Amino acid sequence: MGGKKSSQPDKNIISILLVDDIPENRENIKKLLGFEQDFKVIGTAGTGREGVEFAKQHKPDIIIMDINMPDMDGLQATEIITRQVPRSAIIIMSVQNDSDYYRRAMGAGAKDFLTKPINMDEMYNTVRNVYKKHESVRRFHDELESGKLADILRPQKEEVEGERAGHVIVVYSPVGGVGKTTVATSLASGLMKEDVKVLLIDADLQFADVGTFLNLTPQSTITEVAEDVNDLDTELFENIVATHDSGMKVLTGPTRPEFADAIWERPETISTIIQKVRGSYDFVVVDTGSRLDPTLSNILQEATRVLLVGTPTLVSAKNMRFVLDLFDQAGFPPEKTAIVLNKVMEERKGAKTPTIPPEKFQSYLKRNVLGILPLIDERLVLAAINRGVPFIGSDRDVNKPLIKQLHGLADTLFTELMTDPEDEKGAAGDDTTKKKTKSGIAGLLGR
Ligand SMILES: Nc1ncnc2c1ncn2[C@@H]1O[C@H](COP(=O)(O)OP(=O)(O)OP(=O)(O)O)[C@@H](O)[C@H]1O
Ligand SMILES: [Mg+2]
Repeated sequence: MGGKKSSQPDKNIISILLVDDIPENRENIKKLLGFEQDFKVIGTAGTGREGVEFAKQHKPDIIIMDINMPDMDGLQATEIITRQVPRSAIIIMSVQNDSDYYRRAMGAGAKDFLTKPINMDEMYNTVRNVYKKHESVRRFHDELESGKLADILRPQKEEVEGERAGHVIVVYSPVGGVGKTTVATSLASGLMKEDVKVLLIDADLQFADVGTFLNLTPQSTITEVAEDVNDLDTELFENIVATHDSGMKVLTGPTRPEFADAIWERPETISTIIQKVRGSYDFVVVDTGSRLDPTLSNILQEATRVLLVGTPTLVSAKNMRFVLDLFDQAGFPPEKTAIVLNKVMEERKGAKTPTIPPEKFQSYLKRNVLGILPLIDERLVLAAINRGVPFIGSDRDVNKPLIKQLHGLADTLFTELMTDPEDEKGAAGDDTTKKKTKSGIAGLLGR
């Protein structure tokens, strides 16, 4: 007893922000939450905007959020907080008990949904469940803040066990919808050549799109593989994951967003899969979601390259800069990251939309811009997807601008990684030739 500083937040007390526009509701719920020993309502807000401000300042463990509010509604506020204060987990409450609202709430990033009139026992349980499930994410962000970041993101020594080079290319963006999945699927199929083995992993657990993009209905998804990841057999793995027409192997994501939780709760799941299987492939391409969380940071530790995808806008530049600053603070080697700009518009005289020229991106972000992909008619992207082939796979489209650029991106990476200077050292007569040269594909480079 005694010595404990009172300013120190108690680890076992769940801090809660309550956002509801009706003062009476706020007071009632606050009072009822106060009866629970392990809860502490640290603030209340009457509009979405106030809620966002409070969340940014105090980063509560849990936010209980009404949907219908003046100023900014609960769904919008949820979207902003999920992006800007990922430490906090949001529970939406609403009178609307229909699946559309539920879907929209979860889509905005809410972790659970309560229907009014509120049953307090249900609320107590939900708060405790969500708090527990969000624990690893919360700890991750607390460690980020407290400067322990370097230990979290620091890349481990790459040691690839197996016959193949096992290069891991992670495609990431902190922003949704910029083209991560488009780039990842096309890159993976672009890397496929004779005697080259490629595995594409869908690590976007919440919005797993790769299966849809490639028109695959596999018997086993990441959910099943994750179940006994510690006893993963690489041969069995090769047989149960999906095979695309191009021959590449695809580990598709969860078939339902709810299945993501089981993997988020054990954030080393996907990185363990990668460690175990990478030596059987020349390239492992990983599509990700936009969350910067422990699952992602574990995956990043396995990365040979991280492709940061963005669009040529100010917001995108700012977000990429934020991520790269984090990487820098963590001591993540800058040469491992490169930029891919997507949806770049051709310059037109008198064009009103201000887009940033790629050279500016390069100097602002101090990273190599590895690919510049043009904005095309969205219907063409969809058509290609509907055919079940990423653009790059269909030869007759080879001269279309986007496809040409995607080919170029795959070829650049292929050349860069497969002629690793360390490999050349090894090839030059050193007995301790690195495993990376084993796949014997160097000859392909002379294409
Ligand atoms: N170069 C492009 N030109 C036009 N549309 C594009 C281009 N690249 C991607 N798109 C379209 O933009 C949308 C988002 O692309 P995609 O799903 O690849 O992004 P994402 O970053 O993976 O998104 P999410 O965050 O939802 O996973 C899709 O409808 C896709 O067809
Ligand atoms: Mg995606």
